[in-house]
Amino acid sequence: MIPSPPSAVWTRLALHKLLRREFRGVRVIVVSNREPYIHRRSGGGVECIQPASGLTTALDPILRATGGVWIAHGSGDADRLAVDSRAHVAVPPGAPSYTLRRVWLDKETEERYYCGLANEGLWPLCHTAFHRPTFRLADWESYRQANRIFADAVLEEAGGDPALVFIQDYHFGLLPRLLKERDPRLTVAQFWHIPWPNRETFRVFPWKEELLDGLLGNDLLGFHLRYHCSNFLETVDRGVEAMVDSEHHEVWRGGKLTRVRPFPISIDFEGHVQEACGPAVKRHVETWRRELGNGHRFLGIGIDRADYTKGIPDRLRAVDRLLEICPEYRGQLLFLQFAVPSRTRIEDYQQLNRELAQLAEEINTRWARGEWRPIRICRRHLPQAELMALHRLSDFCMVTSLHDGMNLVAKEYAASRTDEDGVLVLSRFAGAARQLTSALLVNPFSVDEMGEALRCALTMPREERRCRMRALRSAVRENNIYTWAVNVMSTLLEVGQIPNLSAGLAAQEVAPAAVNF
Ligand code: G6P
Repeated sequence: MIPSPPSAVWTRLALHKLLRREFRGVRVIVVSNREPYIHRRSGGGVECIQPASGLTTALDPILRATGGVWIAHGSGDADRLAVDSRAHVAVPPGAPSYTLRRVWLDKETEERYYCGLANEGLWPLCHTAFHRPTFRLADWESYRQANRIFADAVLEEAGGDPALVFIQDYHFGLLPRLLKERDPRLTVAQFWHIPWPNRETFRVFPWKEELLDGLLGNDLLGFHLRYHCSNFLETVDRGVEAMVDSEHHEVWRGGKLTRVRPFPISIDFEGHVQEACGPAVKRHVETWRRELGNGHRFLGIGIDRADYTKGIPDRLRAVDRLLEICPEYRGQLLFLQFAVPSRTRIEDYQQLNRELAQLAEEINTRWARGEWRPIRICRRHLPQAELMALHRLSDFCMVTSLHDGMNLVAKEYAASRTDEDGVLVLSRFAGAARQLTSALLVNPFSVDEMGEALRCALTMPREERRCRMRALRSAVRENNIYTWAVNVMSTLLEVGQIPNLSAGLAAQEVAPAAVNF
C-alpha cells in the first residue's frame, strides 16, 4: 500500500520528508546510462548543464533526500576535469547534496553497448514499431562488458555494506544478477522505461536466457504498465526455468524472488504549472508569435526526439490528409514539428531525418500558397520555457508514437494548459493513453483516422475542449512524478527489502542528506 499523501497529492517536499523518515541510514545508489549533470567545454571554460530529462526530475529528489550516489556514464567532454580521483563530483552544483560517480567507457565499448545492443537491438525489439532490430555478437559482448564495469562501480560505492541499488532502463539488463551474485545483501530494484513486448516478439532476441536471468537478479522490477508486466511474466514463463505466479506478479528462480510491478511514470505537475505561468514563458509566447508570423489562423505542434518510434512521418501525412479532406484549412493551418536530434550516430536515425525533410518538402510543395506552407520542421533542442510557450499558443498537440512506454510530452502539454484549452491527439499505443483517456485517442498507423482526429480537434467546441483538458490535467496532477517515486520506494519498504543500516553503521559513515530543493 502506498502511504497517503499528507495533502491531496504527493509533492517534492512530502516525498523528501517521507524518504528522510523511512530511509534514514539507507545507502541509496542509482544507476543510469545518462548523467543528471554533464560538464562540457564552452568558450574557454567548462559549463555544467542539466539535461532536460524526465529521469532526472524523478530521481534527483530521491538522491537529495537520501544523500546517495548516482552512477552514470561520463559522456561530457569536460566530465573528467570536474571529478576527483575516485571519479566523484558533488552535485547539484552550488548546493551539493549527493554524489555523482562517473563511469568511463572506451569508445568501442560505448559504441557497441549503447548504440549497438541497447539502441539498435533492444530499443526496436521492445517498441514493436516494425523496425527490424539488429543483433551483433560483438555488441552483446560490449553490453556484457559495460554491465560488468557498472557492477564494479556499484560494488565499490556500496563498500561492502548493505545498500539499495535502483537501476534505470534497458542499458543494464545484466547488472542486477551481476550485483546479486557478488553481494546478495544488496537490495536491487530496476525500472524499465520502455515497453516490454509480447513473448513471441521477444523470442527473436538471441541471448534471451542470459538477459532474462540478469533481470531476475532484481528484487523488484518495474514497468510503466500492468500490460508490460504481464508480457514480461509470460516471456519468463516460456523463456527460462522459473516459477511464475501471474496472480501476484512474482517470479521464483533458483530460490530467489523477483516482484514485478507497474509504476506509471509522470512529471512534476505543480513545478511545471508554476513555470508555465511565469514571466519567462509569457515572453516566449510573444517571441513565438513574432517568429511564426500571422500567415495562419491555427497552430498544431509535435515535439519529439527524432526517433522512428515517434510516428512523425505518418503524423505529417495526417496533416496532408486533413488539407485534402478539409479545403478550408488550406492557407490557414501551420503544423510545427520539433524533431530534436537524437542518437545521430545510428544510420536509422539519419535515415529518419532525411525522410522527414523530404516529406515536409513534398507536402509543402503540394499545398503552397504565396508565403504560406503547412509544415515547418525545427531540429534544435527546445529549452523548457520555449516549449511551454509553444504548448500554450497551439490549438492542438500531436503525440502519435507507434509505441511508447509512457510519453511525457503528452503530460507536459496538459500541465502547460492552465487555460484549460488546446486539444491533445494521442496515440492509443503510448502508455500515457491509459491515464489520459480524455485525449483524442488515435491509431498512429492510420493516416485517415489521424486526419479525421485533426478535423475533430479544429472544430471542437470550446466547452468540450475545456472539459477534456480539465480531465487530462487532474489525471496528471494526481499521478505526478512524486507519486511514482513514493510508489516505488514504498513498495520496497512494504516487501521488507530495505537494508536498514542505522543499527550497524556509524552515523558519520552515511553521507549527510542536505535539505535543499
Ligand atoms: C528513452 C529511454 C531513456 C533515454 C531517452 C533518451 O526515453 O527510456 O533511457 O535516456 O530515451 O535517449 P538517449 O539515448 O539520448 O539517452
